[in-house]
Amino acid sequence: MSPFIQIKIHARRLHGDGQPLMGKMDRNWPPGCRVTGHGPGLNRILILPAMILTIGISGPSAADEDVRQLVELPSNMQQHMMSNMRDHLAAINEILREMGNDELDRAAEIAETRLGMNSLNSHGASHMAKFMPGEMQTIGTGMHRAASRFALKAQEGYALPAYRALSEVTSACVACHAGYRIR
Ligand code: HEC
Repeated sequence: MSPFIQIKIHARRLHGDGQPLMGKMDRNWPPGCRVTGHGPGLNRILILPAMILTIGISGPSAADEDVRQLVELPSNMQQHMMSNMRDHLAAINEILREMGNDELDRAAEIAETRLGMNSLNSHGASHMAKFMPGEMQTIGTGMHRAASRFALKAQEGYALPAYRALSEVTSACVACHAGYRIR
């Protein structure tokens, strides 16, 4: 959304001859607002920062309201999943550290073995997948694939495209977390 809202002011309707009012209109708006240009006749465009209009009328924010779908897992699997998750985050952290040191091969190996398609057995993924809604499985598989793609990119030795590929992995983390919870 544009951070500004434009309002056309029909000065003639507000005030008979328009002129004195227009002078005031140009000067007396709060900081951040400005009146610009001429529309047809004496009309002007008032530009208000969108913030001013939304203060006080916004409803509950996304943070207040939990819209994630609850996925019920047996408690031992909950433990298992959360421990996988903590390792996912640790892996991303190690990948970033290796990339910062220009050790792209090491970053690739961490990604492939801890997050990529080669990590699936150690995660017990096929066992867990049964309990997940289809869309959640798809995001999960998408994350593992993205991690393997990242590993290939990193092995090519160019940091910038590798970072871009890594952001596809983290986008999958974000997408799943936005949609699902297990408790
Ligand atoms: C297919 C879905 C999915 C994907 C993909 C996914 N997560 Fe999660 N993750 C979850 C769910 C569900 C939870 C539990 C959220 C809740 O119930 O509050 C969770 C929890 C976590 C936690 C909290 C662990 C704890 O012990 O509190 C971390 C950290 C985490 N994920 C990191 C990651 C990272 C990093 C990635 C990507 C590399 C990732 N996750 C990818 C679904 C996913």
